[in-house]
Formats: sequence, C-alpha cells, structure tokens
Amino acid sequence: MAALFGPRANSLAIVMIVGVLTLAVLFAVAAYLFYRSPYQTAVGYAPEQPVPFSHRHHVGGLGIDCQYCHASAETSDFAGIPATHTCMTCHSREWTNAEMLAPVRQSLAREEPLRWVRVHNLADYVYFSHRAHVNNGVGCESCHGRVDRMPLMVQRKPLTMQWCLECHRNPAPELRPENRITAMGYVPAEEGIAGSELIEHYGTPLDRLTECTTCHR
Ligand code: HEC
Ligand code: HEC
Ligand code: HEC
Ligand code: HEC
Ligand code: HEC
Repeated sequence: MAALFGPRANSLAIVMIVGVLTLAVLFAVAAYLFYRSPYQTAVGYAPEQPVPFSHRHHVGGLGIDCQYCHASAETSDFAGIPATHTCMTCHSREWTNAEMLAPVRQSLAREEPLRWVRVHNLADYVYFSHRAHVNNGVGCESCHGRVDRMPLMVQRKPLTMQWCLECHRNPAPELRPENRITAMGYVPAEEGIAGSELIEHYGTPLDRLTECTTCHR
C-alpha cells in the first residue's frame, strides 16, 4: 500500500491529470472546428424559424413570384428578406386569427422586424452578388433548388469554392432566358435554346469567371 501512495504514484497521478486536461482541450478544439466547418451548415441545413413560413405553400401553391418578396435580387448583391408589411398585404385579410401568424402580427404592432434565422451563409472573405447572376441568365433554382417544394427553407447546394467553380468553368448548360429566372422545374435541355446562344446573348465574361479576384477582392 505504501508504494501506491509513494512518489511514483504522485507522478502517475500528475501524468493522468495532465492527460485528461489535454484530451479535454483537444475535444473542445475539435468541437469548435466542427461547429465552424461547412459540415455544420451545409446541404440539408434547415433551422427552425420564428414563423413556419412555407415556400411550398406560397410559391408552389399560391404561385407568388420570388420577386414579390425578394425584389432586390435584381438590383443589389443581396436578395433580401421581406419586411413584415409585405406579409400583411395579404395576412391583414387572410388567416387573420391564425395562431401560427401571431409573431407576424406582433412584429407589425411593435414595429420590430421578425428575426428569421439565416440559412445560407458564405464566409466573409468571399464576394457574392445576386444581381450579377440573376440579370445574366442564372436562375434561383441553380443555387437554391426546388424552393417551390420546401415546407421549410433548406440549403440544397454546398456553396463551396469547388461548387462555384464547377459552374464558372462551364456555365452554358445552366443559363436561361430572362423571363425564366425565377421559374422552378426549368430544364434547359428541354427548352431547345442552345447554351452557346445564351452565352453570346448575355456576353458572359468566361475568361474572368475563374480568376481568384472575381470572388476574393
Ligand atoms: C411571400 C413571400 C416570399 C416569396 C414569394 C418567396 N420567398 Fe423566399 N423567403 C421568404 C421569407 C419570409 C424568408 C425567410 C424565412 C425562411 O428562411 O424561410 C425567405 C427565405 C428564402 C431563402 C433563404 C434565405 C437565407 O436565410 O439563406 C431563399 C434562398 C429564398 N427565400 C428563395 C426564394 C425563391 C427562389 C423564391 C421564388 C421561387 C422565393 N424565395 C419566394 C419569403 C418569400
Ligand atoms: C399574396 C398573399 C400572401 C402573402 C404576401 C403572404 N401570404 Fe402567407 N398565406 C397566404 C394564404 C392565402 C395562406 C393560406 C390560406 C390557405 O390555407 O389556403 C397563407 C398561409 C400562411 C401561413 C399558414 C401556414 C401555411 O403556410 O399553410 C403562414 C404561417 C404564412 N402564410 C406566413 C406568411 C408570412 C410570414 C408572410 C410574409 C413573409 C406571408 N405569409 C405572405 C397568402 C399570403
Ligand atoms: C449563383 C448562385 C445563386 C443564385 C442564382 C441565387 N442565389 Fe440566392 N444566395 C446564394 C448564396 C451563395 C447566398 C448566401 C450569400 C451570403 O452568405 O452572402 C444566397 C442568399 C440568398 C438569400 C438570403 C438573403 C441574402 O440576400 O443574402 C435569399 C433570400 C436568396 N438568396 C434568394 C434568391 C432568389 C430569390 C434568387 C433568384 C431571383 C436567388 N437567390 C438566386 C446563391 C444564389
Ligand atoms: C449555376 C452557375 C453559377 C454558380 C453556381 C455560381 N456562379 Fe457566379 N457567375 C455565373 C455566371 C454565368 C456569371 C457571369 C455573369 C455575367 O454574365 O456577367 C457569374 C458571375 C459571378 C460574379 C461576377 C463576376 C464579374 O466580375 O462580373 C461573381 C462575383 C460570382 N459569380 C461569384 C460566385 C460565387 C462566390 C459563387 C459560389 C458561392 C458563384 N458565383 C456560383 C454562374 C454561376
Ligand atoms: C467563383 C468564386 C471563386 C473563385 C473564382 C475562387 N474562389 Fe476561393 N473560395 C470561394 C468560396 C465560395 C470559398 C469558401 C469555401 C467554403 O466556405 O467552404 C473560397 C475559399 C477559399 C480559400 C479558403 C480555404 C478553402 O479552401 O476553403 C482560399 C485560400 C481560396 N478560396 C483561394 C482561392 C484562390 C487562390 C483562387 C484563384 C485560383 C480562388 N480562391 C478562386 C470562391 C471562389
């Protein structure tokens, strides 16, 4: 017994304590890295929202165009999230007492915006612009998927550098005419318009699209 609590046991205990502490720190670092990594916020990410707003219902069912709520996609880098009064143009008449819409009415009454949880989020060191894409033949569907089928908004594409570059190297098959940018279920191959024709029509700057400074400025 004496040997167990002797000087050797003390140093063994110190080794064990240091070992456990080191493991704890490593675990915390690993957890932090995982939390920050794209695995955490990638394809399939669908956070809960303050109101269970359904694109399937409003876009797929009621047929409201993206532009009605995300009008700035054409004019700015950001597509933007609609203000509460945009919802109220209809919901002051439709479903006025629904429990689900209580936060919307409250937001209007208190003049406080709804706090929607962001779904898509690029790193700050990446430059992205909606206007550059949607005015030049790239449809919402190419980057956001079948929004008209989403009961809750979900990220469908990885938004990694490789994913951006895949299209930037060969955008022709992804391009659409101006009047189909917000259309869902559009299949370019079935429309009989050649990608090369659209590249010419939009004057797509193919040489510039893969340069680092296009996305990192
Ligand atoms: C009636 C209004 C309305 C219409 C129409 C609408 N949206 Fe939205 N959209 C919203 C609201 C509100 C949010 C924020 C809540 C959420 O993420 O679901 C949102 C969120 C989004 C997001 C996620 C934003 C983020 O946080 O990353 C995308 C992408 C999006 N909409 C695309 C579209 C597309 C594409 C269309 C057309 C096919 C469309 N929306 C039509 C209201 C609308
Ligand atoms: C152009 C009209 C219109 C606009 C704009 C609109 N809604 Fe709706 N919304 C409706 C109608 C109509 C219904 C459902 C009635 C039904 O069930 O047929 C509905 C249903 C809902 C529901 C019930 C759940 C569901 O989807 O079935 C929620 C929640 C909702 N809307 C939230 C919102 C929010 C938040 C906004 C603003 C971002 C918004 N709506 C904008 C017309 C609209
Ligand atoms: C080329 C790909 C691409 C296209 C096309 C595109 N988006 Fe996006 N969208 C993104 C990316 C990437 C983000 C995240 C941006 C960020 O984090 O800065 C985003 C973010 C959003 C957001 C969140 C708010 C914001 O402005 O950041 C909404 C809403 C949205 N998109 C709607 C749309 C709609 C509506 C269309 C079509 C009119 C569209 N997007 C077309 C890639 C695209
Ligand atoms: C589905 C195809 C597609 C995807 C995906 C895509 N892009 Fe693009 N992008 C284009 C096309 C086509 C253009 C050229 C538009 C034009 O004609 O000016 C472009 C242009 C741009 C421009 C403007 C270039 C300039 O100097 O005019 C930026 C910035 C950009 N993209 C960033 C991104 C980033 C960042 C991503 C990924 C998060 C991305 N893009 C994903 C097709 C795409
Ligand atoms: C079409 C847009 C685009 C172009 C062009 C582009 N990048 Fe990126 N880059 C991105 C995006 C988006 C990310 C963020 C990736 C993520 O969050 O997973 C990124 C991330 C990075 C990172 C961070 C590490 C990583 O891999 O995630 C480095 C370094 C980088 N890019 C360097 C470059 C260099 C060097 C070039 C030129 C050869 C270049 N990029 C061209 C879009 C682009």
